[in-house]
Amino acid sequence: MTDVSSSTSLRTHRCGDLRVADVGSTVTVCGWVAKRREHGEHLAFVDLRDHTGLIQCVVPGSVDVRSEYVVSVTGVVRLRPEGTENSDLATGAVEVGECAVEILNIAEPPPFPVDDRGDVDEVIRLRHRFVDLRRPRMQANLRLRAKVNSALRSAMDRQGFVEVETPLLWAPTPEGAREFAVPSRLSRGSCYVLPQSPQLAKQLLMVGGVDRYYQIARCLRDEDLRADRQFEFTQLDIEASFVTQEDVLSFVTEAVLDAAEAATGERPAGVARMTWAEAIDRYGSDKPDIRFGMELIDLSGVFAGTEVKAFASPCVKAIVVEGGASLSRSRLDAHTERAKSLGAKGLAWFRVTANETDGGLALDSPLDRFLSDDERAGLLATTKATSGDLVLVVADEHRLACSVLGQLRLDIGGRPVSEGPYRYLWVVDFPMFDGVDDHGHPVAAHHPFTMPNPEDLDLLETDPASVRSQAYDLVLNGWELGSGSVRIHRSDIQSRVFAALGISDEEAAARFGFLLGAFRFGAPPHAGFAVGIDRLVAIFAGEDSIREVIAFPKTQSGSDPMTGAPKPLEPGQLAALGLQPVPQKLD
Ligand code: AMO
Repeated sequence: MTDVSSSTSLRTHRCGDLRVADVGSTVTVCGWVAKRREHGEHLAFVDLRDHTGLIQCVVPGSVDVRSEYVVSVTGVVRLRPEGTENSDLATGAVEVGECAVEILNIAEPPPFPVDDRGDVDEVIRLRHRFVDLRRPRMQANLRLRAKVNSALRSAMDRQGFVEVETPLLWAPTPEGAREFAVPSRLSRGSCYVLPQSPQLAKQLLMVGGVDRYYQIARCLRDEDLRADRQFEFTQLDIEASFVTQEDVLSFVTEAVLDAAEAATGERPAGVARMTWAEAIDRYGSDKPDIRFGMELIDLSGVFAGTEVKAFASPCVKAIVVEGGASLSRSRLDAHTERAKSLGAKGLAWFRVTANETDGGLALDSPLDRFLSDDERAGLLATTKATSGDLVLVVADEHRLACSVLGQLRLDIGGRPVSEGPYRYLWVVDFPMFDGVDDHGHPVAAHHPFTMPNPEDLDLLETDPASVRSQAYDLVLNGWELGSGSVRIHRSDIQSRVFAALGISDEEAAARFGFLLGAFRFGAPPHAGFAVGIDRLVAIFAGEDSIREVIAFPKTQSGSDPMTGAPKPLEPGQLAALGLQPVPQKLD
């Protein structure tokens, strides 16, 4: 199996492409020596590897090559002798015989075996990422990523979007993370800021009449690194004019489903939809993993007016752990500690058992003796728990009770993000504000340019906490894949939102003056979205960390063991930038 792209001036075939149909052909393959075995003085076997796979080459006589030498091998494809075929290899029915080997480059012994078998320490892998990338898993991941990018691009092109590149040397953007600053040589003491996203640039493109913009955009945020977060990451960034939320959801759905189909071979049936309020109420999370049930159950009605002190709260919520009655006391204690660490006052648990006398259900719990008969019956009827189950209950303010149980639900029932099936979900109607800052001002849940729901506009001044926004997220298997919103294009609404956020006119002018100024020159109604490509590809690749789908990621502590970055600058460079290092204080 060859195609035009496989042959070059130096090779006729790629290693992994040779098949029975090629028997009799004289071929030249190039690659890295995966393994060399001598059979006496007269025969040597060289397993040669390139990105397509391995081929066994048989060399008459001996050959002086070692692991990872770069070689070119010319010989004739033949069937392997009967009984020596290797069904684990795509090329396992054939070999290249009568080989002449030309050494193109020698290599030091690799720091770890170049295969997918062992677990190698991540820092060592990243220090030698150029070797790590030769492993089949990494080759597959990078190629999958390219396929996803290509599918996303085609989907956006097809939907009439124009790819525009926006600057990396930019000014602060309102995404809320800490920013990377780049000192200016020509304007000493001043800095550019690397964009947290192209948010403001893409809105300016809408004022500029671009109508439908997209970009596979690199974004930079100086935030704590985790399995789903890097300093540098990539978004499919989208903005469109004269559209509503529904239009944006449809553009993004099309692109993401195309990417899923390209990556997995199967087009997902669609994307479910849920309001933010429902997601919190049923799953205790704004990015619910809907691959499994264990939904939150409301017991507030059952315990309204209760005598049980622990349940005398505005909201009483429960989850049922099927078969969980067998959990040990120490596991239950651990869940209680976890609930407390998440802010709950406590965690009540009820083991459901079969009542020996009448065969009905009974509760085994330190709290059971405080429950009235109605409460006991109500708890069982509402949760539908049955013998052998465990009911966990948190009573508190609604949001807190939900978030604590939502987290316990994941602790107990959660599974790796990349494990199928893929369950896509739109979460819509996010609140406009989430919590308050140190000065008591509401904090923007998305960013300050998000359009409130028109029905809630009048609440901006009177009851900001209940204003819904036109912001929406795409969620896959419990990971936030992307976010977006309809933007404010009218200055009167923008001023009211700034006022609610406690951003003064002067501050708004200083931070976003160029955007607000541009809006005075005819801003169309517009809306957009950004999909985190690293997260999308990681899930498709079956990886639980985005580092596995990024060619050169940073470690968890933000360094690059290969280049040594970040490094101190030379004194000359510092001087040119007008910078002086401040000696670090020793504790
Ligand atoms: P937001 O900040 O929600 O929205 O980012 C959109 C998506 O980008 C991905 N993402 C990340 N991926 C890896 N590492 C990170 N540090 C990281 N931070 C974010 C996530 C996230 O859902 N400008 C708005 C979008 C818009 O309104 O159009 C924005 O950037 O998958």
